[in-house]
Order: sequence, then structure tokens, then C-alpha cells
Amino acid sequence: MLKSAGVYRAETGRNDLSSPKRILLIIGGGIAAYKCLELIRRLKERGHNVRAVMTQAAHHFVTPLSVGALTNERVLMDLFDLDDEREIGHIRLARDNDLIVVAPATADFIAKMAGGHADDLATAVLLATDKPVLLAPAMNPAMWRHPATCRNVAQLEADGVRIIGPAAGEMAERGEAGLGRLVEVPDLVAAIEGVFEREAPQRGSVLEGRHVLITSGPTHEPIDPIRYLANRSSGKQGFELAAAAADLGARVTLVTGPVSLAEPRGVRIVRVKTAAEMLEAVKAALPADIAVFAAAVADWRVETIQTEKIKKSEKARAPTLKLTENPDILKIVARQGPERPRLVIGFAAETQNVIDYAKSKLKSKNADWIVANDVSPSTGVMGGENNTVHLITQSGVESWPEMSKVKVARKIMERAAEQLHAKRTAAE
Ligand SMILES: Cc1cc2nc3c(=O)[nH]c(=O)nc-3n(C[C@H](O)[C@H](O)[C@H](O)COP(=O)(O)O)c2cc1C
Repeated sequence: MLKSAGVYRAETGRNDLSSPKRILLIIGGGIAAYKCLELIRRLKERGHNVRAVMTQAAHHFVTPLSVGALTNERVLMDLFDLDDEREIGHIRLARDNDLIVVAPATADFIAKMAGGHADDLATAVLLATDKPVLLAPAMNPAMWRHPATCRNVAQLEADGVRIIGPAAGEMAERGEAGLGRLVEVPDLVAAIEGVFEREAPQRGSVLEGRHVLITSGPTHEPIDPIRYLANRSSGKQGFELAAAAADLGARVTLVTGPVSLAEPRGVRIVRVKTAAEMLEAVKAALPADIAVFAAAVADWRVETIQTEKIKKSEKARAPTLKLTENPDILKIVARQGPERPRLVIGFAAETQNVIDYAKSKLKSKNADWIVANDVSPSTGVMGGENNTVHLITQSGVESWPEMSKVKVARKIMERAAEQLHAKRTAAE
């Protein structure tokens, strides 16, 4: 960043993906191993170099011939292979890459990793590496739910391993469904590139001395002690915004609804459940220089929350829920007044007329910017790794191409830093 009197340029940094990355793909012995072939193709298409290690069990699901043909590299399999060891060596293999991806990561493989085993090439490489590791688990839902797997996954997360998925849906076994599918290949590619973007050198300190307040995730509005109204927001975009603001040197407060995401480093997190709690947490966190309202706050809550579980009865009809409007957090904070952040950014998630709704939201809420996106199920935005957004400001609409949520977050925060600087310069 260059910063001198009245001159400002946010350092754009090098394009993190302009130089090809070296990815070591470890293929585990699960039914989803066949999807690795597609993964390799997509990664190669995007200019990355892929080298593969297959576990012994992986051979039952996909052939080294196919993997080798697609990677255009010899597939490595055996820790004690004299030729391989002389040529590359497992320690060099562990270090000579930018990222190690394990896909599919089976329950067994996860257990070995969590236990620090090193009795085959794949586990030995993982134990010796100093590079980021991304796991994409895939297994039967019962295996994923098993306390042993839960313990092992928690251990790996605590060790700094990144985990994507699993996704919910139909299993390969007939009649089985639930959480356990390998995430879709495009999401896996986006997560891989997201790691490179996150690992990219810090952009500097353009937000140093600033307080950035971000809301994220859904809210849960209780019906009775057991049930609640919610929405499908994953909170990923908000968490990435918080990480990006912290990367730029800001003091960040992230007020989040119920989500299960790893906490970004250097960010103060306030966890809430309802819209009312979110509003209180936001008010308590003010003043802020920039406020970004990325949370999918429920528009309505149930007027009277039942203190006991509503019982289903043979005779009584299904209950009617009377809803009442929730506070409009964006509108409240964006009102003119001494506490108004200098830059107030709202999010508009729509399934139709995205830009028109966002333009009217900009006016009706008195926001400075609205980041609008289409969240129709077909877009895969909700819960996915990518986002396609339109930035609506007083001067018009900018439509950004589809990019990872990491990149969207960085771009928004860099623009916000520029805007803040321009406002200050204009005021001087
Ligand atoms: C047909 C079949 C499909 C399997 N699919 C999976 C799976 O999707 N996920 C999993 O964790 N284990 C699965 N297993 C069990 C693993 O193959 C077994 O635990 C193996 O030891 C894992 O090897 P790895 O540690 O090299 O990945 C499957 C087994 C069979 C026979």
C-alpha cells in the first residue's frame, strides 16, 4: 500500500493464482475416489500441477493408470519403494508442493492422521509436511456421526487442518442418505484456490486503526423450547469478510448467528441466536468505521414463544404461528446520527429482480452500498464456496464475475478501505 497525504492506492497484490500451484493429491480408499479423476482434470485445466499419492485401499476404487494419465505424473504409492524414494523421497514430497489435499478422506484415514500415524506413504508425507492440508471427507453418515470420527475431526481441526464438507445427500449405498458425501468437485476446486488466496501475502495495513463491524450467518427464531425458524445462510461470506478485514489490519468484531465455521484469526467473535440478540450485540459493538451487514437476519419471529413444547394431538389442528416483524438492524444502524459508521454496507440476498430490489434497499435503508446476490438454489451460493455479486452504490451498479467468497471478501474490504480514505480526504 502507498499512503501519503491525499494519495492512496490499495495494493492489489500479485494474482494469487497467476503462478501455477503444486498440489499433492492423496486419494483415500472410499467409493468417492472416482471423483478425483474429475478433480484432477479441473485443477489441471486451471493451470495447477497435480501429483497423486494413492493409499493401498484407493486401488480398489480407481486405477493408478487413470490417475497417472490425468496427472501426467507417476502415481506414488509405496513408502518403501526404492526407486520412488531415491527419485523424490517422502520428505521432499511432503515439502515440494503448495498444498496437500486428501480426497476422499475416509474415516480410517482421518483416524490415522489424527493419531499421527506414518506407516504408509500418504500418512508419512502428511506427518512430515509444513504445508497447508485440506481434507475432503466422504463416508457413510453413520461413520461421519460416530463419536470416534467426531473426536478425530476435532483433533485435526485443532491441529490446523482445513476441512471441507462433507455434503448432505444420497449415498452410493441404496436407501442411505445424510451428511457424508464428498463435496462437489467445483466446490472442492474453489476451496483449494481459497486456501491459496488466504495464504497469499498480507495486503498491508490499509485498515489499521479502524474498527470494522460485521454481522454474519442466519438467526434462529424460537417457536418453543425445541423448534425454531431459520434460513440456509452458512455464514461463509461474513466469516471471509471478517478474515479479510483483519488481514488489512482492522480491529474486527464479528457478530454471528449459529454457524459451525472455524473462527478467523485475530477477530473478536460475538455469538448470538436471534435477531433481537444480534441487534443488541451490534449496538454494544459500536462505534465502528465500517459496518457490513452480511447476516441473513430472519425478517419475522414468532409473536409468542411457547414455554413448553407444542404437542401434536390427534384431535387438534396444526398450530398457526403468528409472526411479527424483527428489528431491521441495517436500517437502525444506517440512520443518520453520531454513531453511524462512516461506511454502511448491506447485503441483499434475492431469488429474483436482484438488482432492482437492491437499488430500492439502498435508498430505503440509507445504506452506502448494497452487495446483492442471487441465492436461488440453482446458484449454489448458499453454503457454497463461490459467489456472484453486484455492488450497488450511489453512483451505479458494478457486476462482478463469479469468484470465491474469499476473493469477494477481499475485494469488498479493499474497496471499503479506499472509500474510507476518499471520504477522509474529501473532509480534509
Ligand atoms: C465398497 C466400499 C466402499 C467404501 N467406501 C468408503 C467411504 O466412502 N468412506 C470411508 O470412510 N470408508 C469406505 N470404505 C471403507 C474403506 O475402504 C476402508 O476403511 C479402508 O481401509 C480405507 O482406507 P484408507 O485409509 O486408505 O482410505 C469402503 C469400503 C468398501 C468395501
